[in-house]
Amino acid sequence: MLKKFVLFLLTFSCLAVKATTDTTAKEEPAYEWRGCMIDVSRHFFSIEFLQRQVDVLSRMGINRLHLHLVDAGGWRMEIKAYPELTRRAAWRTESDWRKWWEGGMRTYSEETDPKAYGGYYTQEQLRNLVRYASDRGITIVPEIEMPGHSEEVLELYPDLRCTPVVEVLEQENGHTYDDCLQAPERPNTGDYCPSSKQVEHFLKTVLDEVMDVFPSEYIHLGGDEAGKAAWSKCYTCQKRMEQLGTENVGELQADFMNRMIAYVNSKGRRAICWDEVIMDDTGNSQTAAKGNAVMVWRELKYAKKAIAKGYDVIMSPCSYCYLDYYQDAPPYQPLAAGGYVTLKKIYFLDPTEGLTPQEQKHVLGVQGNLWTEYVETESHAEYMLYPRMFAVAQVGLYGNNRKPWAKFLKQACSEVKRLKKKGYNPFDQANAFGERKESIEPHPHLAMGAKVTYAQPYNPKYPAAGVATLTDGWRGSWQHGDGRWQGFVTGNCLDFTIDMGAVRPITQISMDFMQNSSAWIYLPQTVCFQISTDGKEFRKILEEENPREVTGGVDFKKTLWQGSDKARFIRVTGTSTGEGEWIFTDEIVVE
Ligand code: ACM
Ligand code: ZN
Repeated sequence: MLKKFVLFLLTFSCLAVKATTDTTAKEEPAYEWRGCMIDVSRHFFSIEFLQRQVDVLSRMGINRLHLHLVDAGGWRMEIKAYPELTRRAAWRTESDWRKWWEGGMRTYSEETDPKAYGGYYTQEQLRNLVRYASDRGITIVPEIEMPGHSEEVLELYPDLRCTPVVEVLEQENGHTYDDCLQAPERPNTGDYCPSSKQVEHFLKTVLDEVMDVFPSEYIHLGGDEAGKAAWSKCYTCQKRMEQLGTENVGELQADFMNRMIAYVNSKGRRAICWDEVIMDDTGNSQTAAKGNAVMVWRELKYAKKAIAKGYDVIMSPCSYCYLDYYQDAPPYQPLAAGGYVTLKKIYFLDPTEGLTPQEQKHVLGVQGNLWTEYVETESHAEYMLYPRMFAVAQVGLYGNNRKPWAKFLKQACSEVKRLKKKGYNPFDQANAFGERKESIEPHPHLAMGAKVTYAQPYNPKYPAAGVATLTDGWRGSWQHGDGRWQGFVTGNCLDFTIDMGAVRPITQISMDFMQNSSAWIYLPQTVCFQISTDGKEFRKILEEENPREVTGGVDFKKTLWQGSDKARFIRVTGTSTGEGEWIFTDEIVVE
């Protein structure tokens, strides 16, 4: 490890010169695992593209390239035992994720269809990539998703889905543990039947080939976001739950992942799973921990839980490490997933936050993850990767002994220039728009500090600063979860009245609303402002309607009344656009 690190410093002049001036440069890297994940399923990227990224990533000090090889978007690795996977499950009818997946199309194509969109890597191509990366100090880590996120396989092999109990009871007899084989109609979810021997056989056969192509010590087994909807109604799953003595379908996931981890371990490899493996939504308990790793993606707190179970952890919490999130002001950026992760946010990740010195020994490292639902082209992928991957690498190399932010920022901007000269398409960090201007400092106004009485409560999931939020002078950032935006959900959910304490002349009332349809946040369908001098008689001064627009991006709209009036009380009412849909607002500004 040390040898490779020194080699990388010496080989790559620009960063090496900088790095050797740091006090930490001659020491071991802070973390053994400095990873980058690229999702090549939602959109397929060429081997040449991956090689070009290896060149950059290795120069930055990244030493793992994790490929998310399979998911609903397409199966990307040639499997000799199942040639149909790349003949049919690697191709779909539409490139645009919003039309194909979110629009509900979700249809696959054959390789021979001239309109087929997708692709795959042959085993020979992957072996060459492994060698190319290894020569540059990078291990390619393959991920085979299970038991969720597997629509592309289940479309091809519906027998790997669950078997509805009713189907089985209708057939006369002879039904065994493997009845998934004959069921005519299977529930249309993205989950394998976790209790089916046939599924286990299929995945073990795939993993055999994966482990043959990829020498990586770690093999990633996915394990995230299984919907489990069909499991509780499945004949085979019910039988398995009886055997396990549980009524919790979550235990089926634990049982299944335990078996798959054990298989990988039996071949002398270690498994990595996403953090649901230790604690999913149904609270299951998972056991096959020792020597394996959890990739923490939801919240930092899962690291502690995983370590307590005996796992090592790789830190890639979405709020710091998801490179599909916006990296700058969303209104001026190409469509991205709803979150907001700037270069600076990543740079200040502490992978050991909340962990005792003993627990910290189990942190293998950090990783940036580029999911590609909204990243259709290779040049867009580079835009999302750089320079943010540079910050991930710095956290991995230096831990909490990083150089000061200003120094790093300068270096990152030089790196962007260098990458551009080489024909890459990094984000222009030097000209970043930056934070939402309104949110940088408080803005005093007539209603600042006014008491707010809620006839409809804000939702406890997004309280921001509680009852003070809407009149504290502080405006929200680009992000709804920043503690400044207050969330309301479903129906006539907006109804509060502010009391300014005395009748005052007013000329303007405004409120900003956020829209982020990928997070189910919409402008209110209707908003109404009423004013009163005595708190009894209210007069309507504004009524506004917003059409429901599913843009996918993050946007903001100001609801504004202007005029000349007097008021002590202002009542705001509004309706959400539909069941489960949110309204977010940050302040009622009165002038
Ligand atoms: C994940 O983002 N579902 C790992
Ligand atoms: Zn099942």
